[in-house]
Amino acid sequence: MCGIVGYVGEQAGLEVVVEGLRRLEYRGYDSAGVAVLDGGRLQVERRAGKLANLEKALAERSLPGTLAIGHTRWATHGPPTDRNAHPHLDAAGAVAVVHNGTIENFEVLVDRLERDGVVMQSDTDTEVVAHLVARAYDGDLAAAVRAVCRELEGSFVLVLAHRDEPDLVVAARRNLPLVIGLGDGENFVGSDVTAFIAHTREARVVEQDQVVEVRRGGVTVTDLDGAVVEGETYHVDWDTDAAEKGGYEFFMLKEIEEQPQAVRDTLGGRLTPEGLVHLDELSMSDEDLRGIEQVFVIACGSSYHSGLIGKYAVERWCRLPVQVEMASEFRYRDPVLGRNTLVIAISQSGETADTLEAVRHARSQRAWVLAVTNTLGSTISRESDAALYTRAGPEVAVASTKAVIAQITAMYLVGLYLSGIRGTRDADEVRAHLRDLQEIPDLIAELLTRMEPVRALAREIADEPRVLFLGRHVGYPIALEGALKLKELAYVSAEGYPAGEIKHGPIALVDQGTPVVVIATRHALQAKLLNNVQEVRARGARTIVLATDGDESAVAHADVLLRIPDTKSLLAPLLTIVPLQVLSAEVARARGLDVDQPRNLAKSVTVE
Ligand code: AGP
Repeated sequence: MCGIVGYVGEQAGLEVVVEGLRRLEYRGYDSAGVAVLDGGRLQVERRAGKLANLEKALAERSLPGTLAIGHTRWATHGPPTDRNAHPHLDAAGAVAVVHNGTIENFEVLVDRLERDGVVMQSDTDTEVVAHLVARAYDGDLAAAVRAVCRELEGSFVLVLAHRDEPDLVVAARRNLPLVIGLGDGENFVGSDVTAFIAHTREARVVEQDQVVEVRRGGVTVTDLDGAVVEGETYHVDWDTDAAEKGGYEFFMLKEIEEQPQAVRDTLGGRLTPEGLVHLDELSMSDEDLRGIEQVFVIACGSSYHSGLIGKYAVERWCRLPVQVEMASEFRYRDPVLGRNTLVIAISQSGETADTLEAVRHARSQRAWVLAVTNTLGSTISRESDAALYTRAGPEVAVASTKAVIAQITAMYLVGLYLSGIRGTRDADEVRAHLRDLQEIPDLIAELLTRMEPVRALAREIADEPRVLFLGRHVGYPIALEGALKLKELAYVSAEGYPAGEIKHGPIALVDQGTPVVVIATRHALQAKLLNNVQEVRARGARTIVLATDGDESAVAHADVLLRIPDTKSLLAPLLTIVPLQVLSAEVARARGLDVDQPRNLAKSVTVE
């Protein structure tokens, strides 16, 4: 997902914007650029590749000025080249624009412009905005932007400057996140608060189809018709270092260590003095929730795996059928939805396009939609009937860890809450499960002190071309997640399977020494699982077994034994996921890869 920063104030605009872009690097990008307004001229510099390339080019220029806009681009239309990097200008160099998102009708707009003699300078959809706004400009940049936004289709965040408006940055949003930073004699806009958190903690979320006029003296927000819209400001309570690495080599390692707190914070404030669950974020009435006859969970990637785990809990505790669907497939199979349906959309970023479009489809079919997301004010949370926030704090590494564990925790809370309302579990049972849940943070913390054998194992298997992950029941989604982590971080061909499935084909992948990771913590199905371990071991596999403390049944079948603290089998994913996160990060480190920003990936995929 691209990063966007806009600034107008008294500081050197270039420095403020470049610093903001650096804080947004985690979002994944492949080019970057800035525009600075200086004495009636928009000075632009942009480069393909990482921010360092841009900074190298900037070092050779002087770009004074206290108004600037900047962008890190994750290419969607046009390859990541210098000419496609943002900002884009109109032919006269009067308007500069940076853009997140996709303008779906840009071909039509390009045709119109070219028929009028405009010569496009890039392969991007964004450039059309610069030309259209320049043509619509009649001394009022905000009015011109409102007029153009009414013509645009698709998803966008736009930030613009005009050479004749030295005290104005204009921004607009549709479907993608944009936040205002409110300073003293200076104001900001950014893709999220990390863009300006070093300067101000007072923020305001920009809502759908709103246009923001950012001036030194203040900010005005209007709708597309120009009517002023009031809005709430909020205080950003993230510590600055919460978005910094805090002494770890990689954000991901820091975020793995933050998982005990992520679980604590996600549980925090949601348990009643009587030891039950209270989710006041769920705006549906008890009657509506009792009327639910089916549940769908829609998500992508690791969030999908969280949903698979949540399925076991909700089905077990609520006796409701739960279908977990990849969001990108969900709406195309025309699912049977209605007022009797609860759709749970799980998304760390709250901006994943596949999940957002699935949410919109579910809403159009009158299903109840509950967002489980880590991002306050995100589009998915605002387009759902209710939002249950995971409180994992900012997750910077592309590979999701603490957000996933918080998502699983949130799903357990939803299951227990629903079971209480629907009467499928009595209060004592709910209390017992919650007591088990409340022990998890300390168990994770203790488990994290035992990671040296995992790091040693990572160094041993760092050059393995293929790794298999096996699990049964709730261990199966963890096998999928362990495989995804190794894929996305170390680029290893890793696959997760239900252990019972291995003999129906995948066992052919097992060669002499193939690492096979097995989630074999205490469970009713463990005897069957250990049979599967023997099957792969008999064919040469190197078995890496996750087993519960004190459980000796797996010892004879394990080439490497990794111990997991004991907990209820349904909650075990909150623990078994941890060594697999560490394993993948350490394999990536051993391979000399960028653990925080793996190739080809973005922190949030805002294109379908
Ligand atoms: C997780 O490690 C991946 N980076 C990716 O699969 C991610 O979970 C997926 O893109 C969904 O993102 P979301 O939770 O922000 O919707």
